[in-house]
Amino acid sequence: QIYEYADGAASKGDYRHFMLKEIFEQPAVIRDALEGRLGESSVLAESFGPDAPALFAKTRQIHIIACGTSYHAGLVARYWLERYAGVPVQVEVASEFRYRHPVVAEGTLFVTLSQSGETADTLAALRFAKGLGYAGTLAICNVPGSSLVRESDLALMTRAGPEIGVASTKAFTTQLVALMLLTLALDKSTEATGSDQAGIVAALKTLPDICRRVLALDNNIETLSQAFAEKHHALFLGRGAHFPIALEGALKLKEISYIHAEGYPAGELKHGPLALVDSEMPVISVAPNDALLEKLKSNLQEVRARGGELFVFADENVGIDDSEDDVSVLHLPHVHEAVAPLLYTLPLQLLSYHVAVLKGTDVDQPRNLAKSVTVE
Ligand code: G6P
Repeated sequence: QIYEYADGAASKGDYRHFMLKEIFEQPAVIRDALEGRLGESSVLAESFGPDAPALFAKTRQIHIIACGTSYHAGLVARYWLERYAGVPVQVEVASEFRYRHPVVAEGTLFVTLSQSGETADTLAALRFAKGLGYAGTLAICNVPGSSLVRESDLALMTRAGPEIGVASTKAFTTQLVALMLLTLALDKSTEATGSDQAGIVAALKTLPDICRRVLALDNNIETLSQAFAEKHHALFLGRGAHFPIALEGALKLKEISYIHAEGYPAGELKHGPLALVDSEMPVISVAPNDALLEKLKSNLQEVRARGGELFVFADENVGIDDSEDDVSVLHLPHVHEAVAPLLYTLPLQLLSYHVAVLKGTDVDQPRNLAKSVTVE
């Protein structure tokens, strides 16, 4: 279906940069991405088009292929699809996949993620996949009529509207919405297996409002950003579905502020990155209220014990606060853990934005990067 962009969608309006405008558009575009796709307590299967139910019925596993920020959305989706839909998932960057010799099991759905629908490697991966015996292809994409959409069996539009800033923001969070809808559409479990479709649907419906509350922390995040402007490195930590959010936080910071940043699963600290931690290395962590919280807390203690300066975005209920000198904490509203990765993305986007503004870089058009990479 064609999604009409609102008038003025491609102008900066009162915002200093497109990126900031696009960050603040997220409550509205997340609402648009959900519009007409949810029933009372389940996802509407027809959202994926008339051929989707037959293809989903024979789907036994999924391969997700993408580049850049879209790849990080795929990494989050792996946690969701395995946990809530019970479907095995592999996620890979397109430039690697297309030169491998993948072994494709029967009933594998091939999913591409792309803001533009024109990324050369992702498109080439789709064309390559067509000869490999996949059960079908689905594109999750922001641009109606793009090559990826035209050449896939199924398409789900993310409805983020035009994204002008090279560093992807609203395209990412709406991809996450689309991937959660896919997860729910593939969830064949009964209540006996512990599926929480109704709870997740309710959480999705409240997400635009909760995102608005997180964006209202902008001034606090701007204040935090001052600690980064003179730094040369930063480490982002997360666990579970928030490990890819740490990767995305690091990618945003390096793309627009040119600070070297790495995202790590917090449980890997001891296997290398701890050697880098000192007072010159800010460590940023997201701490939602989930089953890995206690493990994360002990990982953060390891950072403090090495003299690292910690910045934590934490659920308001988890008892992490900044009573200690070397820890800065911003509290986020409590949400269903299934949708937490969407929420924790927002403060990391704002942090990168403000650091880049302080450093005076070209926020919307960072050096050496392009919005759409249409050549290999
Ligand atoms: C470029 C952009 C990124 C984007 C990536 C994939 O690197 O700068 O923001 O995530 O391409 O683009 P796609 O349009 O396929 O999502």
